[in-house]
Amino acid sequence: MGLIDLHCHILPGVDDGSKDLEMSLAMARVAVKQGISHILVTPHHMDGTYLNHKADVLQKTAAFQTALTTAEIPLTVFPGQEVHLTGDLLKALDDDDILFMDEGGRYLLLELPHSGIPEYTEDMVFELQTRGITPVIAHPERNHGFQQEPDRLYDFVKMGCLTQLTDSSYLGVFGDKVEKLTSKIINANLGFAFASDAHNFKGRRFLMDAAFNKLTEQAGEQVAQQFNKNAKAIINGDDVVMPEVAKISAVKRKRRFWLF
Ligand SMILES: [Fe+2]
Repeated sequence: MGLIDLHCHILPGVDDGSKDLEMSLAMARVAVKQGISHILVTPHHMDGTYLNHKADVLQKTAAFQTALTTAEIPLTVFPGQEVHLTGDLLKALDDDDILFMDEGGRYLLLELPHSGIPEYTEDMVFELQTRGITPVIAHPERNHGFQQEPDRLYDFVKMGCLTQLTDSSYLGVFGDKVEKLTSKIINANLGFAFASDAHNFKGRRFLMDAAFNKLTEQAGEQVAQQFNKNAKAIINGDDVVMPEVAKISAVKRKRRFWLF
């Protein structure tokens, strides 16, 4: 099994990711080169700009898989959505217009607005959980709310949420602050999997091999392997082993000496 990418805008012409099939196939070749074998394609949905309805994504993902196979690119794609947190989410669930990260409908890739954590987020998480859904918070390290109050991420994980960290965040593409917060999230055991969130070849791009190399160096082989195991468990709808989690503020104090 290669690396599993849980968040990626590789589906052609559906959002601000890949423009067309040619670009998607070129991105797929980069992904395979980095050791990625499976990608959950996650076009933006209900973010105020893009609507990518479940039926369309299912059809377009199947067509893209056929194109990958024809081009002899050894990559498996699964249909998904990056679901934006909005008051319309429950209705979309009722209307069967939501794709999950697994076929069984257990894990939901949930994107919060970058500007912060809306007041109703906890209520929505609770509502999703009562429906048997586990939210996987997309790139919390890039959210202003978690940047200002990192310990709120601990609260969400204690509530039962999982998190997906973005490879390029960990490598400094979004700046020093985001890179450091990503490391802190990992040190507090509040990070569960890496994903590329790749949109193109610059900026938000595939950096999965480099991120896993860095994780192996900084946190050890076992943690790196666990990240990919968690990604597999999420895709398969299996349990994710919950480690002992800590508040980010507590880890910072405790581990300060080890940073020098
Ligand atoms: Fe995304």
